[in-house]
Amino acid sequence: MLEAASWVLAALSATIGEAATTPHAEVLAADPQRTAVLEAVGLVRREGDVLTLHPSLAYADEPTARSAAAARLSSLRQAVAAATQDTVAGSGGGWAEQDDAVLLHQGRASAGTGRALATKAVPALPGLAARLAREGGRILDVGTGVGALALALAHAFPHAHVVGIDIMERVLALARAELADAEPAVADRVSLRHLDVADLADHDTYDLAWLPAPFLTEEALNAAGPRLVDALRPGGWLVVGTQPAPSDPLRRAVAGWQAVRNGGNAYDTDRITLVLGASGLHDARQFHTTPGGPVLVAARCGHS
Ligand SMILES: C[S@@+](CC[C@H](N)C(=O)[O-])C[C@H]1O[C@@H](n2cnc3c(N)ncnc32)[C@H](O)[C@@H]1O
Repeated sequence: MLEAASWVLAALSATIGEAATTPHAEVLAADPQRTAVLEAVGLVRREGDVLTLHPSLAYADEPTARSAAAARLSSLRQAVAAATQDTVAGSGGGWAEQDDAVLLHQGRASAGTGRALATKAVPALPGLAARLAREGGRILDVGTGVGALALALAHAFPHAHVVGIDIMERVLALARAELADAEPAVADRVSLRHLDVADLADHDTYDLAWLPAPFLTEEALNAAGPRLVDALRPGGWLVVGTQPAPSDPLRRAVAGWQAVRNGGNAYDTDRITLVLGASGLHDARQFHTTPGGPVLVAARCGHS
């Protein structure tokens, strides 16, 4: 049964990838044995002679479908690398091993989290919307990647300046190109720095700091806490993107193993909330985004 499950993932990855550019019916008809695997687990439905992909696999557009297929393939590659104890770069693991097209697509997808941060979290955090509406409001985007979330925040807060930091030079080069293509009135308020958050030395500088926790090593995450507390202005807010723990033990264990193998950490939403408390932040609260999506945990620095 366990071996069969890995073949389901293989069939799924190949089918979704082909269905990004070819009509679903054609893809399902082209390889009847592969389609039978998906039908056996309920991911393909048959009505008479008509085969259809499960609605959860009908993606909105081609880039989303390609990204979903790439995520499945990456999961398979990671499992093979884990099985062979392969730690060599290129084994299909973390963010740094993805090619530019995947970085750009996944980075751009994180703009949605930026919008959730701007529209759900900021208005609910006392004093923050007013601070960001003033000239001189400053936002720190840790792990800025291709700059999509930074641009979404600069767009949402037209008087604020956003500083994006990242440890990966290649992704910052992509971010610079994204800024050059963006509306100048927005892009001119975003600046980029090649910097590890563990080495951040800014003091009393930001009203809002964003931290995508799952992508940092446990060491960097623990070092980030005090650096960010110091970098926030009194009364400023740290908002952390977290992954809630899956409810069943198998998925929880797999998620932890994958996260650490991908260069991240196994801390879930509740653990991060505890870390924020231990860093001297207070008034912690959680905001849910999309079902299965990140949970934003916010906590405040000192007094206003
Ligand atoms: C999922 S990506 C963020 C995507 C981003 N929001 C965008 O718009 O493209 C997470 C980023 O965190 C960066 N990162 C990981 N550890 C870091 C650290 N210690 N300091 C700064 N950035 C870090 C990675 O290089 C990666 O680019």
